[in-house]
Amino acid sequence: MSKLIKLPVIKDSRGSLTVIEKLLPFNIKRVYFIYNANGLRGGHRHKLTRQALICLSGSCSIYINNGITEEKVELKHPNHCLLIDPEDWHTMQGFKNNTILLVLASEYYDVKDYINESYD
Ligand code: TYD
Repeated sequence: MSKLIKLPVIKDSRGSLTVIEKLLPFNIKRVYFIYNANGLRGGHRHKLTRQALICLSGSCSIYINNGITEEKVELKHPNHCLLIDPEDWHTMQGFKNNTILLVLASEYYDVKDYINESYD
């Protein structure tokens, strides 16, 4: 099941700094980010890949369904991190013009790790 965690923010007169260290339940093998997005992204679950989603700029909405429960999470703070398990069917939508969605993943990209069937 997905989990929203708050990342530490170190603030001073020069601004804010957020660090991700010894926080994720996996080692990061891959980093990608989505921007200039409109409409719907995602629309799959995975066999192995675990992911951490952080909206660095703007906001977006994440829909998750693990086959038992479903939820919708608004990501709008760069210190909020949404952890998604492999079985979590997910879509991302509601992108603003300035949205940058950072994704940290536990596995290298492999199309064979995708499951494109939803639970319905
Ligand atoms: P896709 O997984 O459909 O993106 P999203 O889940 O955000 O809608 O990937 C879009 C394209 O990018 C597709 O051709 C596969 C490619 N891609 C990679 O090459 N490496 C990656 O790590 C990712 C996530 C996608």
